[in-house]
Amino acid sequence: MREDRNKLLTETTPRSSAGKVLRQYWVPVALTEELDNQRAVLPIKIMHEELVLFRDKNNNLGLLDRQCPHRGVDLSYGRLENNGLRCVFHGWCFDKSGQCLEQPGEPENSKLYQRIKTKSYPVMEINGVVFAYMGDREETTPPQLDCFRAPDSHVFAFKGKWECNWLQALEVGIDPVHASFLHRFFTDEDPSDQYGKQFRDNTAGTNIPITKVLREFHRPDIHVDETNYGLRIKTFRNLNNGSTHARITNQIFPCAISIPMSNSMTITQWHVPVDDENCYWYAMFTSFDEPIDKEKMRAQRLADHSLPEYLPKNNKKNRYGFDRKEQETQTYTGMGMDINVHDQWACESMGTIQDRTNEHLATTDKAISAYRRMLLQSITKVEDGDQELIGIVSGDDAYTIRGPIALDAIGSSEDQDSIWLAGDQKRRSQSSWNANLYYKETEND
Ligand code: FES
Ligand SMILES: [Fe+2]
Repeated sequence: MREDRNKLLTETTPRSSAGKVLRQYWVPVALTEELDNQRAVLPIKIMHEELVLFRDKNNNLGLLDRQCPHRGVDLSYGRLENNGLRCVFHGWCFDKSGQCLEQPGEPENSKLYQRIKTKSYPVMEINGVVFAYMGDREETTPPQLDCFRAPDSHVFAFKGKWECNWLQALEVGIDPVHASFLHRFFTDEDPSDQYGKQFRDNTAGTNIPITKVLREFHRPDIHVDETNYGLRIKTFRNLNNGSTHARITNQIFPCAISIPMSNSMTITQWHVPVDDENCYWYAMFTSFDEPIDKEKMRAQRLADHSLPEYLPKNNKKNRYGFDRKEQETQTYTGMGMDINVHDQWACESMGTIQDRTNEHLATTDKAISAYRRMLLQSITKVEDGDQELIGIVSGDDAYTIRGPIALDAIGSSEDQDSIWLAGDQKRRSQSSWNANLYYKETEND
């Protein structure tokens, strides 16, 4: 890749090409749990922009420029008052739209406040995640992803900070072959102990552990379909006995992936730039059967992350917990059993912004190539003012983007596509919420 193209794809300032594309979509900016305290005011940095998120007395969220428009101090130190956020320097108060409501130090009859409105972005809260729309077009409806349609009881959300550019974090998520190496375990765990962990289940309807399939069948056949939401990545592993293992993962444009977590859960995960050298992953774990045990999931993740920044405890400072003995006997990486740490190492060790002039993409990187093409096309479209962007739907059309299907399944090698389609239909028809993809909900549902 040429150096200028690498820059084009990775930079996310408001004026940058990729930054303009990302801003056309709803992106996660915080977890609801971050606002669950006595004072619901939170500094946010996203795509180089310093913002402040707050919850007013009517329970509405506001996302404003963090610099006070009066003299530029930090509004995240502000007071929640008068149904808005009040700057502690001279008391100017702003509502969720950024409109100034009061300037208590100005002369009594001054109307100057009416002409002061600071930058604000629309926000919405879905199943534990706060999303913002930072674009300059009319805001659109988010697509009907499973993680949005499922009831709150069936979704658990968490996040973590990685010290690298958002694009390399995303690209690891659409690289299906790495699971056979980076996430290889030399023995299979007891599947009854797999709750909240990735890859440890048996493949649906069989007693074949996913870890065994990944370990023993490491030359998958990968197909990439372009879809109305991004890419569907179909990874087939021929098990040499007339059956095939299918693993379906997705790229949801522009910066999310959707992958199987276990037979009953999927992960939809956004990779959101803080700036060009740091990003957050935001994951929505969605259960298709039982309500999610959020306490257990949260405790598992808090053991590995320190708040309030959600920084992983294993990181480059302690060499990701690398253990030579473990690498010999237990895992491919020697970096523990949490696959999230493996991915973090892969992303961060490339350098904060991977120098793609030195890379050599191979056959199994076809989803990465397809994604870069899609991002380049979207850059051109946004520059040309084209309204038809991948994954942007509104009104009734929102129903055309559902799911997406993300699972592991085993079936006859004769018809590979029916393996995952049948597996998905079965899971959805047995789901404890209305997960059916194949009909349109009415407004009352
Ligand atoms: S700087 Fe905020 S009110 Fe003066
Ligand atoms: Fe991974």
